[in-house]
Amino acid sequence: MFAVPPNTLPASSGLAVAHPVRIARELAADRTSWAPLLRYDPDQRWAGLLHRADGWEAWLLSWLPGQRTDLHDHGSATGAFTVISGTLTETVVRSAGEALHVLRPGQSRVFGPDHVHRVRNDGPDPAVSLHVYRPERPRTTRYGHDLVTGHLRQD
Ligand SMILES: [Fe+2]
Repeated sequence: MFAVPPNTLPASSGLAVAHPVRIARELAADRTSWAPLLRYDPDQRWAGLLHRADGWEAWLLSWLPGQRTDLHDHGSATGAFTVISGTLTETVVRSAGEALHVLRPGQSRVFGPDHVHRVRNDGPDPAVSLHVYRPERPRTTRYGHDLVTGHLRQD
């Protein structure tokens, strides 16, 4: 513990410097801001830009049962996503193997540039999630598994 000098500037409370999980959770809690925008697409996972600010973007995604992403990274972006409703299963692939994360409403995951994952809705109900990307939603690289070596390869 230390004494804070009286002329210390207050910590910024702006979302521009907030942790992406905090942004995702705050936006997710503001249901009136995103509920009218939400769509479900029976042909593919739906994504809509919810908010664009200087240095970050927030996207609302919906997942009908069985909808999923391919294995992908996030370019040079960092970010986080929060599950609003339903259940999403994230598989993170590393050189040491795979890790499975089952995410229920209110649970979040953080990712950085080295994060390679796939996300899917394995549940019986539609799912909704809110994703924050910094600086913006990236152009992703898709990956596949080399069945001979077991290593990741870019598709
Ligand atoms: Fe992702």
